[in-house]
Amino acid sequence: MADINLQEIHDLLIEIAYEAGRLMLTATPSYLDSGTKKNSVDLVTETDRAVEFMVSSRLSKAYPSYSFIGEETYVPGETTLTSAPTFICDPVDGTTNFVHAFPAFCISLGFTVDKIPSVGVIYNPFLDELYTGIKGKGSFVTKKANGGGMEKLKLPLKKEPELLKDLSTCLIGAEWGSDRVGNNFDLKCKVFTKLAASKENGGAMVHSLRCVGSAALNLALVASGQQDVFWEGGCWAWDVAAGWCILEEAGGIMASGNPGNWNPEVDSRAYLAIRGAPSGQKEIVEEFWEVVGNGRLDYKS
Ligand code: IPD
Repeated sequence: MADINLQEIHDLLIEIAYEAGRLMLTATPSYLDSGTKKNSVDLVTETDRAVEFMVSSRLSKAYPSYSFIGEETYVPGETTLTSAPTFICDPVDGTTNFVHAFPAFCISLGFTVDKIPSVGVIYNPFLDELYTGIKGKGSFVTKKANGGGMEKLKLPLKKEPELLKDLSTCLIGAEWGSDRVGNNFDLKCKVFTKLAASKENGGAMVHSLRCVGSAALNLALVASGQQDVFWEGGCWAWDVAAGWCILEEAGGIMASGNPGNWNPEVDSRAYLAIRGAPSGQKEIVEEFWEVVGNGRLDYKS
């Protein structure tokens, strides 16, 4: 890592993210003419492809020896994350939101070394919100200030985040994803119901559940402290690599979405993120894993 200039990479990723944002805002996608991948809810647009092409071209010019993994050029069984310096790109995370003009989509640009998320840049062009992080140097959001102009704030947004008491006090991000059959879907339904149900009905009675529709933005929200927890199975390394770095730099932790694993791999496809807090993070993970119970999210890479 010593000879890799993370600051320089971070600065270039920000430039690229803003360019991607301009491409997204000038597109007029519609769910009526968007394409699909694995099924009718796994959407892809021309913008996803155009943005990824722009990103990979710029990165391969600047860093020809580094690896690149992108959602739209990923080849199952062939593309794998190695310990080499690697850019990991989701050109449009929240594609479903993008085609519906629901204002929660972004570009997610991560950089890993030894498979460790070391730089993260997430940009939501609709809201003009930029989340950034560099390993060991903190994470930030740059956004419109209330009084006009832009402001850059350190994450988490609260200087002294509250401790995490138990799940009943948490606002939880969780996603349906695009796999809607079989064991994974049954488990999601069970966990969603158990989280929401009252204590009398054997549930955790959490404050509420949110489906933002972008794993990267979910992680940015947890890093900011605006969501306490994010749980998902089915998303990919490109959905989480950038947010992971931003989250950890904001004092958050990433555990596996499946019980028992405190150190999940970036490409393990099942994640549980907890916001920064002076105490209670470990307890929330354990309580969440109890809700998951003996079930197991199982997605192929
Ligand atoms: C998806 C979004 C969604 C999550 C899916 C992801 P995409 O990414 O992050 O929130 O539930 O698992 O695949 O397809 O919009 O890039």
